[in-house]
Amino acid sequence: SAASQPYRTSFHFQPPKNWMNDPNGPMFYNGYYHLFYQWNPYAAVWGNITWGHAVSTDMIHWDILELALVPDQWYDQYGCWSGSATFINGKPVLLYTGWSNVSFSRDNQVQMQAMAIAANYSDPLLREWTKLPQNPILTAPVGINSTKFRDPTTAWLGEDGKWRMIIGAKRKHRGVALLYRSSDFIQWEKAKHPLHTVALTGMWECPDFYPVPASASITGLDTSANGPHVKHVLKVSLDDTKHDYYTVGTYITSSDSFIASNANLDAGLGLRYDYGKYYASKTFFDSKKNRRILLGWVNESSSELADIAKDWSSLQAFPRIVWLDEEDNDRLLQWPIEEIEMLRKEKFSLKSSQIDKGATVKVEGVKSAQLDVLVDFELPQLNGAEEMVVNTNNAQQLCSVRGATRSGVLGPFGLLVLASEDLSEQTAVFFYIMSNGEGKWNALICNDQSRSTLAADTDKTPYGSFIPLSGMEKTLSLRVLVDHSIVETFAQGGKVCITSRVYPTKAIEDKAQLYLFNNGSVPVHLRELTAWDMETVHIGSI
Ligand code: FRU
Repeated sequence: SAASQPYRTSFHFQPPKNWMNDPNGPMFYNGYYHLFYQWNPYAAVWGNITWGHAVSTDMIHWDILELALVPDQWYDQYGCWSGSATFINGKPVLLYTGWSNVSFSRDNQVQMQAMAIAANYSDPLLREWTKLPQNPILTAPVGINSTKFRDPTTAWLGEDGKWRMIIGAKRKHRGVALLYRSSDFIQWEKAKHPLHTVALTGMWECPDFYPVPASASITGLDTSANGPHVKHVLKVSLDDTKHDYYTVGTYITSSDSFIASNANLDAGLGLRYDYGKYYASKTFFDSKKNRRILLGWVNESSSELADIAKDWSSLQAFPRIVWLDEEDNDRLLQWPIEEIEMLRKEKFSLKSSQIDKGATVKVEGVKSAQLDVLVDFELPQLNGAEEMVVNTNNAQQLCSVRGATRSGVLGPFGLLVLASEDLSEQTAVFFYIMSNGEGKWNALICNDQSRSTLAADTDKTPYGSFIPLSGMEKTLSLRVLVDHSIVETFAQGGKVCITSRVYPTKAIEDKAQLYLFNNGSVPVHLRELTAWDMETVHIGSI
């Protein structure tokens, strides 16, 4: 019941119980979205990994089917690890990593790549999957430790008619995206050079490689699309830091290699999809609505004991669309898929008003832990901004040092979500504008969960990043999805995203309130705030 499970979500995908991690093989086929996911059938901790399988017609409501892949072969006996779906002549096939044990395996391999096809392609739900007798189709190449060889991507077709895919790996301290080619999808040959590699970034888990329109159009592209009006994105999940980094660049087909548009933002070094909890993400091309969808794993910030007590662990982030930012071609924008709007119920709004120094303004009527909130602030006069160096290295730390309750000049100001009546519990989402001393500004953007709960055993480290400002912007905007124990922030139209997990003890269910606040000395002008109470989705099994 809700009373005993205050942290289960209402519009995020989560299985009824047990441990979940990475999204796998997402795709749209024959009227259904398919989501596979790393799932432990036996416990709320990682282990015995299978591919759970859920289907949906809208990525909002889900039905859970039979497990798609379970460890039942010598090459995957300890787990069916992450992988991807590829359409071959219109039919999806799955590539995944089998985890086995040295002493049992034929050639001392631990991580091997395997393939599965649908047992019956005329079943609209593709309930049953068959592993190929040729498996494993790939074992670790010479020079790659076989415990560092996993997570095959969706394959794409080159102009020569051959398939290509990459596999995450590590060589000494280098992150590596090994490139493989195939004519028949079963015999794969390693290319002499990896698609890409970056020194000192450690193991690259769950790589993702996809085209985006260079015109910054919101329209997505099929994974094999290429040409002069296309840029490519390489995403790597850094095992060392558990963060997902993306890089916009060029796919050079003549050498089958990738070059970052900005070397400072190379793979594992530059921008993150999300500055909170968000890992092992994967995109797919949604042919139903011609868009590229991003899914990601959001784990818990509470203890393993708490996971065992509540009998589940982890969520999938709300699906996002991704496309190139036309104001900054090295950046992607991300936004919740429009289907979320079908869940909006009662609407609350505040129109143009001034939020004075030290003020806390309650959004009257909001009594809900499941909300979609949109806020536009007028960009204040930037003259008086405090001077501070804000960069990727110190942004998160500044969110703690300059947290929501400190007084500043142009901030901190923003929202308090999942706030109790007495404000003893509150999760702040705020901006804080700093001058860089060179005629430009940065808006620090933070999710501050340091006061999110009175409970002790959760990680309350504030998260954050920054958005460079030219000073010409008219507004600063926030969109925040609130769902019981998850807070997803989309700042300035999706330039920066931050996902937090929070575990309030008082600000739960209809005790959860919403506020605006300003702890800066300069008044802030609210243009508009709109908040919707959200419906609970259906997650069933058929
Ligand atoms: C990422 C990851 C993958 C692996 C899977 C195992 O979270 O470690 O590299 O395939 O999870 O569950």
